[in-house]
Amino acid sequence: MASRIFFSVSLVLTIALFSSFAEAKDHLVGGTSDAWKVPSSQSDSLNKWAEKQRFQIGDNLVWKYDNKQDSVLQVTREAYLSCNTSSPVAEYKDGQTKVELKKPGPYYFISGTQANCEKGEKVIVVVMSARSRRSGAASPAFAPSPSPNSEAETPAVAPTSGASGAKGSAVMVVVGVLAGFLMM
Ligand SMILES: *[C@@H]1O[C@H](CO)[C@@H](O)[C@H](O)[C@H]1NC(C)=O
Repeated sequence: MASRIFFSVSLVLTIALFSSFAEAKDHLVGGTSDAWKVPSSQSDSLNKWAEKQRFQIGDNLVWKYDNKQDSVLQVTREAYLSCNTSSPVAEYKDGQTKVELKKPGPYYFISGTQANCEKGEKVIVVVMSARSRRSGAASPAFAPSPSPNSEAETPAVAPTSGASGAKGSAVMVVVGVLAGFLMM
């Protein structure tokens, strides 16, 4: 009996551990392997793609492109708006670019070919704060508080992603242990 408890606890711990890693997702920019190019019809199609994604801390952006024709620059907002390729935050030209999204907030990427950027080969990715990872149901928009303080509507910035992940894993362990007992 004791070994069964031990088994179910360690199984659940293992699952919790792996699921916290499994949350990290690779986002192929544009949704297809040939999407990093001048958009053919809608000039803003890369941002239309980005708006439909949920970017979370720890996720990766992935680009596939011909590195003889193109590259990926991470730039400031100003450089994004003006397609200024002269001093990027980071430059990638390996044809198989992977960028980890380590902190919340906006990321700006443009083509290293300025003319392509000007024709719409650029994308803004907004990474959610750590708190919004799991707060789908707990949105303050549903709270019945007609507070005049508009700051109350804005979710506070969460402590760290680590705390949120650990909390989720702890909940899973408790649920799993209970399930283990019920099975006996
Ligand atoms: C591009 O950015 C660099 C560095 O921020 C700046 O010195 C330069 O004037 C900018 N070029 C244009 C055309 O805005």
